[in-house]
Amino acid sequence: MSKTLVAYFSHSGNSQVIAKEFAEVLNGDLFEIKARHVYSNHYNTVVEEAKRELNAKARPALLHPLPDLKEYETIVIGYPNWWGTMPMPCFTFLESADFSYKTIIPFCTHEGSGMGRSEQDIQSLCSLAQVLKGLAIRGSAVQKAQQSIVNYLKENQLI
Ligand SMILES: Cc1cc2nc3c(=O)[nH]c(=O)nc-3n(C[C@H](O)[C@H](O)[C@H](O)COP(=O)(O)O)c2cc1C
Repeated sequence: MSKTLVAYFSHSGNSQVIAKEFAEVLNGDLFEIKARHVYSNHYNTVVEEAKRELNAKARPALLHPLPDLKEYETIVIGYPNWWGTMPMPCFTFLESADFSYKTIIPFCTHEGSGMGRSEQDIQSLCSLAQVLKGLAIRGSAVQKAQQSIVNYLKENQLI
């Protein structure tokens, strides 16, 4: 059976918690999407940095080289909702390899905006991939999200 990659970006830890749970349930490999530059730990500053990068359609360089995607048919991609979509390093990630004919399972953590327009953005970047409707989890609910993850995967016949 082909393996699953769980790729995630997380600035303050919420999305990382969910990524680890996806990896555990799916027996997947984890990959952290991390920018080479460091985002501020001050909320207002990172909010401005993120806005600037979004408006500039930035593609921040990634710290870690991508794994070989040949091994993976299914890719979970997780991130915080930043300004209604994915943080820009996720755009870099999705443009750095060929996701054609793969299944992409998005999830995000958020504070009210849900998936935002991230699923459409993923589909635009990976036009030949099958992009599932994502799982959105509120930041305050990450510690008790395991059942939601299992239910979501069952609903999509992934487990
Ligand atoms: C730069 C920035 C922009 C954000 N924009 C949104 C947003 O548009 N909508 C929303 O619901 N939450 C927004 N949030 C809240 C985060 O999505 C939320 O806190 C998330 O759980 C953080 O995940 P992390 O701990 O994995 O970084 C934003 C947070 C930051 C830092």
